[in-house]
Amino acid sequence: MTLLAELERTTADFTAALADAAGAAEAESLRNAYLGRKGALAALMSRLPELAAGERPAFGKAANAAKERLNTLLEERLAAFKAEADRASLARFDPSMPGRMPERGSLHPVTLVMEEICRILNNLGFETVDGPEAETDFHNFEALNFPKDHPARDMQDTLFLSGELLMRTHTSPMQVRAMLERKKPPVAVIAPGKVYRRDYDQTHSPMFHQVEGLLVDKGVSLAHLRGVLTHLLRDLFGPDVTLRFRPSFFPFTEPSVEVDMSCVICRGSGRKADGKSGESPCRVCRSTGWLEILGAGMVDPAVFAAVDFDPACTGFAFGLGVERVAMLKYGIDDLRLFFENDLRFLTRFVK
Ligand code: DAH
Repeated sequence: MTLLAELERTTADFTAALADAAGAAEAESLRNAYLGRKGALAALMSRLPELAAGERPAFGKAANAAKERLNTLLEERLAAFKAEADRASLARFDPSMPGRMPERGSLHPVTLVMEEICRILNNLGFETVDGPEAETDFHNFEALNFPKDHPARDMQDTLFLSGELLMRTHTSPMQVRAMLERKKPPVAVIAPGKVYRRDYDQTHSPMFHQVEGLLVDKGVSLAHLRGVLTHLLRDLFGPDVTLRFRPSFFPFTEPSVEVDMSCVICRGSGRKADGKSGESPCRVCRSTGWLEILGAGMVDPAVFAAVDFDPACTGFAFGLGVERVAMLKYGIDDLRLFFENDLRFLTRFVK
């Protein structure tokens, strides 16, 4: 067979194989086999020396023309396969299907409640201040009139760091910092933030949140404290809430009070409609009708002395647990839920 005849046969083989190709990949594989550097056409070209010198230009021309044609055929076939694939995928695309929405994050329930508490108190004129969680013994205890052997200082509760530092056990050291910074009254601040204790069970976490409040000026009384706290708790829990002050003790306030509010579940009745036989004892307030909600009092003169404030000024302070408020507000009975990062729990609070 002449070289020219072989060229024609190769061309015919290629055309037949291309027609038989079931898909783009199969068609693509012909490119190497026929048109590549080691393909069938290249092999024929390399046999050019077999021809008489006069026949070579004509064969070369024919071979080049064949190569160009096969290339064109191949590209056309590949384009046809692609068009077909596009048509098929368009047929599968259903524009009426609902889209996949990206999941939205949300603020943590503790953050939401903390922000709400701060908003209410900021509106009354209290300025939000911030301070270190690694505190000195002086700010956390000494200046707050904790005696050297006070149980709160002992290893049971406090997480001690090296040197003079410890993890603050409450936000009250911010009272000291605020007064030292402002040097004299008036002082009207709130300090939200994390506090730490060596504790862990259903109602205690080694890290939790408090909001501290402090108002120091001339003539500040327990009645002002009561007014501010009543406003705060009614804004948080509803206009029917009433407060009760119980005598208590904190080293940095005198007098000190434990503030109870009427139970938000049974509205102070101690009994709750159970939907069946009528009424049952209220579990949340253990039938007392009252819920302990925060500690407060009038700033102890010893604290004023520690920050070098005029002993003639008066002030009130309060400290409230944010998780406690969030649990009552949202009806949550296990504190640990706040810290487990379970999305089934956290997404309940998406606004
Ligand atoms: N610091 C106290 C605690 O952690 C709470 C507290 C009580 C804060 C009375 C106050 C206060 O400002 O006056 O348990």
